[in-house]
Amino acid sequence: MEKTFVMVKPDGVKRGLTSAIMQRFESKGFRLCGAKLMQMSETLAKTHYEEHKERPFFGDLTKFITSGPVFAMVLEGEGVIDEARKMIGKTDPKEAAPGTIRGDYAILKSENIIHGSDSPESADREIALYFTKEELIEDRSST
Ligand code: CMP
Repeated sequence: MEKTFVMVKPDGVKRGLTSAIMQRFESKGFRLCGAKLMQMSETLAKTHYEEHKERPFFGDLTKFITSGPVFAMVLEGEGVIDEARKMIGKTDPKEAAPGTIRGDYAILKSENIIHGSDSPESADREIALYFTKEELIEDRSST
């Protein structure tokens, strides 16, 4: 079954939005396979955001993402990668539609509440960065 990686960023955790965000995905029908509150190391932050390392905002991004705990989740369900991205909304909250998580809860691009994998390759890579196989409880659709 398709899986994706979703992470409530430090601004979302600090504002107490973790459970509201998780509720949206569960209400939609996606299953939680794994979840944890964690403090990202600088190394993990740099690895996760490696594709942005030449961008001018890279330093601020890694500083922000390590500024407090994040809540990492793996969600499972049909089409979950694209659907979760739709539910999250555009990167810049000012362009994110009302009803999306960023549209409803955020204002700044640099503090946009949540991250979601953008492709099957990113989902595989990001899930493996944050979770061991033992930490994931997979495909409960038949139980
Ligand atoms: P995310 O979906 O986690 O992936 C990369 C992140 O970089 C993105 O969300 C934004 O939070 C951040 N980002 C992208 N563009 C900018 C920018 N111009 N200034 C600051 N942060 C940015």
